[in-house]
Amino acid sequence: MKKIVVLTGAGMSAESGISTFRDAGGLWEKYPIDDVATPEGWRRNPALVLDFYNQRRKQLLKAKPNAGHYTLAELEKKYDIQIITQNVDNLHEQAGSTKVLHLHGELMKVQSTSSGEEVFDLTPENYETHLGDKCPKGYQLRPHIVWFGEAVPEIENAVRLTEQADIFIIIGTSMQVYPAAGLIDEVKPGTPIYLIDPKEVNVSRKNVTVIQKGAGEGLKELREKYMNEY
Ligand code: APR
Repeated sequence: MKKIVVLTGAGMSAESGISTFRDAGGLWEKYPIDDVATPEGWRRNPALVLDFYNQRRKQLLKAKPNAGHYTLAELEKKYDIQIITQNVDNLHEQAGSTKVLHLHGELMKVQSTSSGEEVFDLTPENYETHLGDKCPKGYQLRPHIVWFGEAVPEIENAVRLTEQADIFIIIGTSMQVYPAAGLIDEVKPGTPIYLIDPKEVNVSRKNVTVIQKGAGEGLKELREKYMNEY
């Protein structure tokens, strides 16, 4: 079975109604990154940060996987599909994808402020976190999200998986945030690379087949037009 590694970003979930970050009207236009997605923002105003992520969870709980998520899940019948996602939603899993590595954390989890390794699940019935919500050891809980300026603990696993790819697919990411965007440089020379995005995205590699479409339509085209080769 060919190993396909798929790097996804916010555009993957756009057709599910989840806002991207850097498009017009995106999340970072409405909420300053420094306030809600950095350790400094957390120190300044943790209640605001908790509220921001409570809102993100509320939005996620109303969302459903889109055609693109389902196509990726279906491709598992024929290929070894490894998803590396920058998204903190769980729509790949909801669609049925079984191998999903979350580079930037997960919205439906929280972690202890004393250790990023002590992670706890939230539930759809109990998805909010507030000041005063503590882990069993008594430390305040915070979102299980990799903020700007924090280490990305899964990056080494992501690099290892990317090096093993027979085919590499990039979907719905502006490729502006590192180290995630640097994964394309880890793809073995000669490996076919596909990029699905309605906008032009600059990448460092040549010989990338670009499908300038949204995730749903773009993945349909990829499957029908290109996948028969493999
Ligand atoms: N289908 C596919 N791609 C789409 C769609 C769609 N329907 N709609 C928009 N896009 C594309 C945009 O053209 C853009 O290239 O999705 C991309 C979204 O880019 P960003 O908003 O920058 O999101 P992303 O690349 O995932 O951001 C990376 O930065 O903000 C942090 O931690 C956060 O994980 C995030 C990281």
